[in-house]
Amino acid sequence: MARRARFVLVLMVVLVAVVGRAEPEADPEPSVQTVSVPPATPSPTEPLAFDEATVERFFTAVKSQLRCGYPMFGIPSLVPLKLSYTLKTSFDLLSLKKINIVASNFTVHGLNDFGWDPARTRFTRTSATVPLSFPNVTAFALTSLNGANGTSFVELRNVSIRLDAQYEEKDDLLYVTDLSGAILVEDAKVKIASLFPKSAKLSKIWNKAIGKSLPILVELFNGGKLKIEYLSRLLSGAKFYAMNTINNALNSHSLSFDRLVESMVKFADGTADSLQCDEAAAAAGADQIVGWLRA
Ligand SMILES: *[C@@H]1O[C@H](CO)[C@@H](O)[C@H](O)[C@H]1NC(C)=O
Ligand SMILES: *[C@@H]1O[C@H](CO)[C@@H](O)[C@H](O)[C@H]1NC(C)=O
Ligand SMILES: *[C@@H]1O[C@H](CO)[C@@H](O)[C@H](O)[C@H]1NC(C)=O
Ligand SMILES: *[C@@H]1O[C@H](CO)[C@@H](O)[C@H](O)[C@H]1NC(C)=O
Repeated sequence: MARRARFVLVLMVVLVAVVGRAEPEADPEPSVQTVSVPPATPSPTEPLAFDEATVERFFTAVKSQLRCGYPMFGIPSLVPLKLSYTLKTSFDLLSLKKINIVASNFTVHGLNDFGWDPARTRFTRTSATVPLSFPNVTAFALTSLNGANGTSFVELRNVSIRLDAQYEEKDDLLYVTDLSGAILVEDAKVKIASLFPKSAKLSKIWNKAIGKSLPILVELFNGGKLKIEYLSRLLSGAKFYAMNTINNALNSHSLSFDRLVESMVKFADGTADSLQCDEAAAAAGADQIVGWLRA
């Protein structure tokens, strides 16, 4: 779960980073107000302008950093993401068949291939909304179904993720106060190994059916119409883990909103004092930390 939470954290780092291009005049200059109750300082809920090219550069930097992970935050390489997590569960396949499933050695591909939608991106000094889209996120796992082993996968196509974060400043430090989001999947392909060990045809039919129903299941889960307690607990744990980790990182680097913006811009520009991923070292498969250079 922790690693999954870390993925959320990375997305969060990405998200907070979008703030990286707040226009400088977002600072104290109160704009002319004609509303009846003008705030004393600029409204913290007023959308801030951002420079698309800089955000684009920032995401390009993030994509290459994902190879190295974020060792200083305890985040491993996400290309691909390997989870040491073992899932054990059982369910009834439409009362046809009782399935005991053990899945382990999860590997998730495609996390470094995403786009963002500037038109639907919004951020203020207290909140951010960032829509990201991943064309292909595929998870492989070693599975054991009623004792029959194999490699299974779930391929999610055109995954749209909307991240929402709330944060506030206190004593010149930034704190994340809430994280939430939504996910939509356009299409999915599933192969559960040994679903019906005696019938390749039945396995094929069921895998196809499960794949086809995944997008709608995701939508129902998103809208709260489908309750999967296990998943809800996992996500809730991930959320608090991510918030805690982010707040520790913001705290230990003494980051206020403005200082965070500044360091994100440095990151986008790859300045010498920002963290850089040495792709060659990362690809060499050496210790993840080796992939990092710090000026
Ligand atoms: C699965 O992961 C475990 C440890 O997480 C490792 O010892 C094992 O070799 C892996 N198995 C395969 C087939 O990759
Ligand atoms: C999606 O990604 C997986 C893993 O990288 C790959 O095996 C698969 O072929 C990809 N699918 C498409 C349609 O590109
Ligand atoms: C199947 O995998 C499990 C671990 O998931 C292992 O304990 C078991 O020995 C494997 N069985 C076979 C037949 O390979
Ligand atoms: C994913 O989106 C792209 C562009 O929006 C579209 O061309 C493609 O057909 C979609 N793929 C799937 C599998 O839905």
